[in-house]
Amino acid sequence: MINRYSLFLSSTLITIPLLVFSTLSNAAEQLKATEQINEFEEAIKLTPDLENGRAKYRTCVTCHRPEGWGTLDGAYPQIAGQLPSVLIKQMADFRANNRDNPIMRAFASQRSLGGPQEIADVAAYVSSLPMNPNHGRGAPINLELGKRIYERDCKDCHGANGEGNQEDHVPKIQGQHYAYLKRQFDWIRNGRRRNADEKMVKQIQGYSARDEVAVLSYVSHIKPENTAEQDWRNSHFQRYDRSWRPAGR
Ligand code: HEC
Ligand code: HEC
Repeated sequence: MINRYSLFLSSTLITIPLLVFSTLSNAAEQLKATEQINEFEEAIKLTPDLENGRAKYRTCVTCHRPEGWGTLDGAYPQIAGQLPSVLIKQMADFRANNRDNPIMRAFASQRSLGGPQEIADVAAYVSSLPMNPNHGRGAPINLELGKRIYERDCKDCHGANGEGNQEDHVPKIQGQHYAYLKRQFDWIRNGRRRNADEKMVKQIQGYSARDEVAVLSYVSHIKPENTAEQDWRNSHFQRYDRSWRPAGR
């Protein structure tokens, strides 16, 4: 028979561990968030050493390629020419597990890359690389609609031409491969990317598939400002075997 005491006892037995568990995991999350802010705040203040950044970039070339252009299918993003504050923020976010990619987490880790100084160095180097003149673009349909949506909903944060904002670490999205834009946009919308901007998440909730494709395709058709000459190769990695490509690309 269930009496008041056994009810009290069983609910206490369930509640106490739950409370302990949620307190502990909250504390762990807060700690992580603080570490991440600290690393970003620390790295952003440092004077970068480009030479060391170039040396550190050696571990990144297999995926992001010697030019930092990634792959056109968007599996690997273009990072060349990205704003330094954005690169630093994204590296800190991978390290703090606010973005899901286990491969990137390993390569951005303290063990592989080092501390805030190395983050600042590699970010400065990557940022100094010119962008791909032939990045992956979306199908050129509904570009007018895409432009209207962009100017209404995205321009204030990402800039008139998708150039981003260094001070507020808003990513440059001009010149990014269409397929990568699409993947990140979907992950930002569905919460898989935990570092997303809350206002942006709200903003894009009601988008139809047509709106989304239109605006991202429009972004992918903006001409990036700082592109390399056709067939430019990064002379810092002259001896890199370019015939080797990451699996499937
Ligand atoms: C083994 C492959 C691999 C290596 C090596 C690698 N990356 Fe990445 N990187 C990726 C993938 C895949 C993504 C996209 C993750 C996603 O889809 O969320 C990514 C994303 C990024 C991003 C986020 C770009 C954005 O705009 O969202 C940055 C910044 C970055 N990498 C920098 C680096 C740097 C710097 C190094 C070297 C220290 C490096 N990566 C090494 C595979 C790699
Ligand atoms: C309120 C400001 C704001 C608005 C409005 C906004 N964004 Fe963003 N967006 C951001 C910030 C900040 C990030 C980076 C979040 C982070 O990872 O730190 C971002 C990230 C992104 C990314 C991922 C880029 C990358 O390199 O990983 C894409 C793609 C993107 N936004 C597209 C859009 C589009 C398209 C619109 C309009 C429909 C839009 N955003 C509206 C602030 C905004």
